[in-house]
Parts: sequence; C-alpha cells; structure tokens
Amino acid sequence: MSQTVIAIDGPAASGKGTVSKAISEKLQFNYLDTGKLYRAIGAQYLEGRPPIDAAQSLNISDLNKYDLQKPEIAQAASEIALIPEVRAALLEFQRNFSKKMPGAVLDGRDIGTIVCPNAKIKIFLTASLKARAKRRYVELYKHDGKISFETILEQIKERDKRDQTRSSSPMVAASDAKIFDTSALSIKEAVDKVFDYIQTKI
Ligand code: DC
Repeated sequence: MSQTVIAIDGPAASGKGTVSKAISEKLQFNYLDTGKLYRAIGAQYLEGRPPIDAAQSLNISDLNKYDLQKPEIAQAASEIALIPEVRAALLEFQRNFSKKMPGAVLDGRDIGTIVCPNAKIKIFLTASLKARAKRRYVELYKHDGKISFETILEQIKERDKRDQTRSSSPMVAASDAKIFDTSALSIKEAVDKVFDYIQTKI
C-alpha cells in the first residue's frame, strides 16, 4: 500500500480527536492531533512568551509539559491561531509528519484545505453546538465540579466564531471532504461510520 494521508477536520468537541485516534489505531497509522501544537503555544503565551517565538522553536516535548485540556489554554490556542506567522511556523512540522509511513491521520481545522490539500481522504466532522457543549461539559466536569454548562457553551461558540472567521486558514470543510454529523452518534457509531467510508477509499 502506498503512503496514505487521512485529514480529519472539524470544530471543538465534534468527536474528531476520538475518531481520529481510533482510526489511526485500526489502520496502524501515525496520528497527530494538531490542536495540541496550537495549545502548547497558547500555554506558553499565557506564561508571557511571544507566540511567534514559541511557534518557531516548538519542540515535540513541549506537548507534554502542560495540561493542554484546560479551557483557558484552549481559548489562548484559538487566539494565537489567528497569527499567520504562527500558522506558517507549524506548517512544515505538520507536513513532515504527514509523510510518515505507512500512513498518517492528522486532525485539526485546516488539514484538508491548507496543511495536506492532496490528502487521499478528507473528512469533516461536525455536530450541533449543544451536543458539542454537552460532551465537553461531561469531560471537564470530572476535573472541575464547579464548571457550568452555559460557560462551556459560550466558550465553544466564541472559539467556533474565531476559528471560522479568521483570515488565515479559517476552519472550513474542503470541497472534496466527506461531511459527517456526529450529534446523534455514539463514539462507536461515529468511528464505525468514518471507518466504513475510509475503507471504500483506501
Ligand atoms: O482541536 P483543538 O480544540 O485542540 O484546537 C485548539 C485551537 O487550536 C482551536 O480553537 C484552533 C486552533 N487550531 C487551528 O487553528 N488549526 C488546527 N489545525 C488545529 C487547531
């Protein structure tokens, strides 16, 4: 089999991380959650480091230095992701990763459109705002019993708007991406649906 790139894009809590990881395990492909790159820069930005500088010297070990799931890091990630120089600095790292054998699954916002426009398979996962906020709430409540559903819903809404409207690589489904709505699907159903589709393309 020749080297295959699978691009999986979509908004926060659309299920893309869980689905991408499961698909990479089924196919024994390499997996990169590109949101972690932006989150690691967001974390450094919160510590006072200029984001362009952090992006230009990003090291893979930086990804394990922070609790990247924190909501404030997610918000900072979506802010630094607006900066074209930050995005440019991360391009080469992501493209090199996509060349790994026997194949690679990358998830993010602009994988099918900018990072790997020639990916063999492109998926765009989406879900209603309410369904996504509910998922994130269940996840974050385990760590912080005081967090409110309304706060999470507002944070996701704000992040969606920023990710969709930025001028540099906005989040948008590639014209040749297959779109799946996961609002009413369990994790297993979403993984099965996406995997069935991938098998028809591989
Ligand atoms: O997927 P995530 O929630 O971990 O991503 C965090 C932020 O990083 C997201 O709000 C926007 C940014 N991001 C991006 O701009 N491009 C990507 N390919 C991945 C993430």
